[in-house]
Amino acid sequence: SYVIGPACVDVNDRACVDVCPVDCIYVGDRKSYINPAECIDCGACEPECPVDAIFVDRAARGDETRTLFLDDSKAFFAEVLPGRDAPLGSPGGARKVGDLNADTALVTGYGA
Ligand code: F3S
Ligand code: F3S
Repeated sequence: SYVIGPACVDVNDRACVDVCPVDCIYVGDRKSYINPAECIDCGACEPECPVDAIFVDRAARGDETRTLFLDDSKAFFAEVLPGRDAPLGSPGGARKVGDLNADTALVTGYGA
């Protein structure tokens, strides 16, 4: 799967969202998150990001920050986000879900 890293925080440009063929990039409050269960590894999103926030999961190996955000991407879909009563899981499309207006605990406090 591909992963959105910390450079997205407070940029949240969404250029990546528009090119994903399976609509698996979900928009949070401070950043967006690729659903690892839905991403088909096409890589179309990676060159679109103006701040180079996107990387492939295997590129996280040995990199502490990338590993943190790899795990955090999974958490975004597995945990109950603020304002919701169940985990997102795999809704099968970000557009129908809309903006989540929420982040993981890591991203909410990131850089604070
Ligand atoms: Fe979509 Fe990027 Fe994966 S375009 S399918 S999130 S590699
Ligand atoms: Fe974020 Fe870059 Fe997409 S800033 S929302 S990963 S285009």
